Amino acid sequence: MDKLIIQGNIPLTGEIKISGAKNAALPILAASLLIPEPIQISNVPQLQDVATIMSLLGQMGVRMSLDDKSNIEADASNVTSFFAPYELVRTMRASVLVLGPLLGRFGEANVSLPGGCAIGTRPVDQHLKGMRALGADIEVENGYIKAKAKKRLEGTTIVMDIVTVTGTENIMMAAVLAKGQTIIQNAAREPEVEDLANFLNALGAKISGAGTATIIIDGVEKLTGGTYSVLPDRIETGTYLTAAAITRGKIKLKNARPETLESVLLKLQEAGAFIDTGSDWISLDMKGNRPRAITLSTAPYPAFPTDMQAQMMALNTIAEGTGIITETVFENRFMHVQELLRMGANISLKGNTAICTGIEALQGAPTMATDLRASASLVLAGLAAVGSTTIDRIYHIDRGYECIEEKLTQLGARIHRVPN
Ligand code: UD1
Repeated sequence: MDKLIIQGNIPLTGEIKISGAKNAALPILAASLLIPEPIQISNVPQLQDVATIMSLLGQMGVRMSLDDKSNIEADASNVTSFFAPYELVRTMRASVLVLGPLLGRFGEANVSLPGGCAIGTRPVDQHLKGMRALGADIEVENGYIKAKAKKRLEGTTIVMDIVTVTGTENIMMAAVLAKGQTIIQNAAREPEVEDLANFLNALGAKISGAGTATIIIDGVEKLTGGTYSVLPDRIETGTYLTAAAITRGKIKLKNARPETLESVLLKLQEAGAFIDTGSDWISLDMKGNRPRAITLSTAPYPAFPTDMQAQMMALNTIAEGTGIITETVFENRFMHVQELLRMGANISLKGNTAICTGIEALQGAPTMATDLRASASLVLAGLAAVGSTTIDRIYHIDRGYECIEEKLTQLGARIHRVPN
């Protein structure tokens, strides 16, 4: 397994380009199953998770090609299998996103249950509840979701018990070709949900309200081919901004969408960052100052994203003062804390709350990545630490950050990958 080695304590400076959003690209690629004609999707990040969904769709008979400029062509005119095996779903939970499109277009799906993961139990009961409400028969047998619809799905009103991102996306995709109108209440408002709706609308769907808590889908007979460019990644954006803040640096991110990460920008300003934005760029300047500790609580969009919690914890480890971070979305998302403690951080955990009093400097140490965003927090800690930090099991990072060493090197970091 590859490792990353970072020589820290260097302020990041310079300019990089943000990639397309992983969490928008995955549902958009899954949605290709709904369309019996070729589609072209651009600004797709080259990531392990994207490779996983392409491989899954390929096994189902979707013809896919990728060029070297991050454009994907997908052609689902000849889907031959409705099966998503455990081996693939286990490596990436978002594989469950094929359930809605398969049911919506073919009335049949056999998708492995994703099971738990490092950050929590993560059930899919809300996805199944939505599919059943649309008229599908669903049984969970031998670890698989076996879904069948005897006739075309039928629109209805679905009130989600909890706010779920992929749950909302799955139901939206199932409803696009259903008969009549579907209303999803208490829908997730994440920009990636809106991006998926924009993509589907570009190909003939009739969806309104995406980005709000009530999404209305008027079923159509058929979607047609077309082109779409994926939204920039707000979590990658927030991660690099925090990397600049933790190293007291000054950076500019191009191809970013500031309006999708306001809660993060506000917290970074509270930490002492000077932030400037344009329609497609964000700059951050710490003016050489040590960050101030921040207090935050994660919650669904537009509140502070759980996917930025670990990175903010890293920032607090070297900040001035004490910050309190409460995680409300996932029950076990503090795995990075143990590793940060090994670098000298002062953090105490009480249930879903982490209290961190900043120290002057972290010390480099050998560490282990445990999940995607936890890994990002270790990279940030390593960039700020005095000495050398090794991060093992970085396949987690490769799931979600395109060319992370290249981008950080471009910003002046001393980072390299050691293959094992
Ligand atoms: C998505 C994101 C992930 C992000 C998360 C929360 C993708 C591919 N992944 O994951 O990066 O961290 O949103 O912003 O977009 N839950 C249930 N029942 C369900 C579904 C969810 O109880 O049927 C719970 C989960 O266990 C969790 C909470 O709801 O506690 C939110 O999870 P959810 O929004 O579904 O996360 P994902 O869509 O899996």
